Amino acid sequence: MNIKKDYSLKTLNTFGIDVKAKQFISVTKQAELLEILRRFYASELFILGGGSNMLLTQDIEKTVVHVNLKGIEVVQETKDHIWLNVRAGENWHKFVLHCIENNYGGLENLSLIPGNVGTSPIQNIGAYGVELKDNFEFCEAINVQTLNTTKFSKADCKFGYRQSVFKNKYKGQFIITNVCFKLTKHKHNLNLDYGAIKTVLEQKSIQNPNIKDISDVVIAIRSSKLPDPKELGNSGSFFKNPIISGDHFKQLQQKFDLKYYPLASGDYKIPAGWLIDQCRLKGYRVGDAGVHKQQALVLVNYGNASGHDILNLAEHVQKQVFNTFNIELEPEVNIY
Ligand code: EPU
Repeated sequence: MNIKKDYSLKTLNTFGIDVKAKQFISVTKQAELLEILRRFYASELFILGGGSNMLLTQDIEKTVVHVNLKGIEVVQETKDHIWLNVRAGENWHKFVLHCIENNYGGLENLSLIPGNVGTSPIQNIGAYGVELKDNFEFCEAINVQTLNTTKFSKADCKFGYRQSVFKNKYKGQFIITNVCFKLTKHKHNLNLDYGAIKTVLEQKSIQNPNIKDISDVVIAIRSSKLPDPKELGNSGSFFKNPIISGDHFKQLQQKFDLKYYPLASGDYKIPAGWLIDQCRLKGYRVGDAGVHKQQALVLVNYGNASGHDILNLAEHVQKQVFNTFNIELEPEVNIY
């Protein structure tokens, strides 16, 4: 087992924050992962996937286990569908491109989302009208206490908006090792409802898009607004879009020309990016920590920001939004 000491995590978190792990192990085999779980107490370990949904504010005084299991396997196939079992360490976008190349439909709207396959169910990643749960069949995860492997069906995962059991009831208790997706081989169920997708398809005069066209459009839209973590450290949406009551919504509507998504419950989801933008914070910068110039929902590291610099900026944003709208923004990223 190759255990490294005082290992920098700068290249392993998309915010590019330079903190150190007291010990670091990258695991490429399930047997190795089990060996680590036998050797260490779960409380001594810090599990790291793609590092795309976290803000590190301090050195990690634990043993960081980088889950780097690779492989894509066909587990079942019918005339219309294919089931792919994908190991946790596969890069999400590379996996989506693999599906597009093979004409397996379902994940095209989720192109270019940073992170790994193994962490995608934890927050039920979503974009442009599609969520991971729409094509999810099951995942398997190791219980860090018993070391047994449990299979989680879609119902078991209790998926919601950026939510699952892995973020709530079972937080820190399981390591997801593989995720199985059910995808279409033809007659793809295209999701074109999201306004920006329709607009770009029209601009390109594409009338009957295929899954590659949709993936290309999503990549173009994301690239135009969301910074590439390789060029500018960031963790995608830093905050969740808040949900407010109908009464609160009515009050605000008297004062503001709100952007909103009505929910079946009678509540309203308000785009956090719009709220932050209204507070004139788009492009706001303190040292190397900033609010992205094209999408106010994304906080960025211009180079040498520390985790605390980003956190201070996030708190400033939360205060301004609260003072203006009486809405509390909740971070989407995990803060350590
Ligand atoms: N808006 C502004 N100013 C901004 C940003 C947004 O006015 O700086 C307005 C837009 O004009 C639009 C509305 O807010 O009317 C919503 O913006 P957008 O369509 O960009 O989507 P979002 O609600 O900001 C969510 C997800 C994104 C996902 C997009 C597309 C959350 C927290 N974020 O963003 O997810 O890509 O929808 O589906 O739900 C991520 O999780 O990392 C992520 C990027």
